[in-house]
Amino acid sequence: GKVRAPTHIISTISDDRGEEPCYGGVPMSSIVEQGFGVGDVISLLWFKRSLPRYCTKFIEICIMLCADHGPCVSGAHNTIVTARAGKDLVSCLVSGLLTIGPRFGGAIDDAARYFKDAYDRNLTPYEFVEGMKKKGIRVPGIGHRIKRGDNRDKRVELLQLFARTNFPSVKYMEYAVQVETYTLSKANNLVMNVDGAIGSLFLDLLAGSGMFTKPEIDEIVEIGYLNGLFVLARSIGLIGHTFDQKRLKQPLYRHPWEDVLYTK
Ligand code: ACO
Ligand code: LMR
Repeated sequence: GKVRAPTHIISTISDDRGEEPCYGGVPMSSIVEQGFGVGDVISLLWFKRSLPRYCTKFIEICIMLCADHGPCVSGAHNTIVTARAGKDLVSCLVSGLLTIGPRFGGAIDDAARYFKDAYDRNLTPYEFVEGMKKKGIRVPGIGHRIKRGDNRDKRVELLQLFARTNFPSVKYMEYAVQVETYTLSKANNLVMNVDGAIGSLFLDLLAGSGMFTKPEIDEIVEIGYLNGLFVLARSIGLIGHTFDQKRLKQPLYRHPWEDVLYTK
C-alpha cells in the first residue's frame, strides 16, 4: 500500500492546494459571494468556525475603535521615530507593534483571565481588587494615562452599548463595571480602559454565543487570542503614521536636550 511520509508541519486553518484558497474550509469565492467581512475572516482563521453576525460585527467594531489613538501613544511614537529615521514600512510597523504589551494595548488577555477567574470564583469587586493589590499586581483593563472618571473613554461606552443591545448576556462586562465602580471610588484615574472592555466583553461573546464549549473558552483565554485584536487593529494606524511621516518628508528625529533631566 501507500506509505505516507511523516509531515513536519500540521495546519488546520487554511488550505491553498485547490483551485482557490479556503479559510476554515470555506472557499474564497463563498467568502466573497456571501459578502463576508473581516470579522468573518477572523472567525474562520482564529476561531475556526463561522460566528453569528453580532459576533463578527463586534470584532469589526473592536478593530475600528482600536485602529489608532493619535501620534502620542507608545506605538505611534515609535513608528513615527522609525519612519523619520528613513526606515522601510515593515520596520516602522514592527517598531510600533513592539510597544504593545501589559501596559499598552496588550492587557486584553490578562483582563479576560483575571475578570473570568474573579467572576467564576464569586469574588466581590472589593475582594478581587484588594487581593490584586496584596499581590502587587495592577488590575489589567483598569487605568488610563488621560481618561478619568469624569472623562470616560468613548470607545468603552460604544462597545458596552453594542453588547448591551446585541449580546444575549453581558455578565462578565457587568462584573467589570462593578470592579470599575470600586476602583473609581479609590482614584479617579482607575477607569475601565479599552483593553478591559474588550477583555470582559469577549468573555461574554465566547460564553453567550453558544458556539464554544467550556474547554474551548478556557483554551482561548489561556493561549491568549485577544491581544491579537489590538495588534491587528493598531497595525492599521501604525501603517498610516508611517505614510504620514514619509508624505510630510519629516527629517531624522532627535529628542531635545531641554526635555531630558541629566542627572547623576
Ligand atoms: N490597578 C491598580 N492600580 C493602578 C492601576 C491598576 N490597573 N493603574 C494605575 N494604578 C495606580 C498606580 O498604582 C499608581 O498609584 P500610586 O501612585 O499609589 O503608585 C497610580 O494609579 C498611577 O496612575 P497613573 O499615573 O494614571 O497611571 P500610570 O501612568 O502609572 O499607568 C497604565 C497607566 C499603564 C495604563 C496603568 O493604569 C496600568 O498599568 N493599567 C493596567 C494595564 C492596562 O490595562 N493597560 C492598558 C491601557 S489601555 C491601552 O493601552 C489601549
Ligand atoms: C490607545 O488606544 O492607544 C490609548 O488608549 C492609549 C493612550 O495612552 O491614549
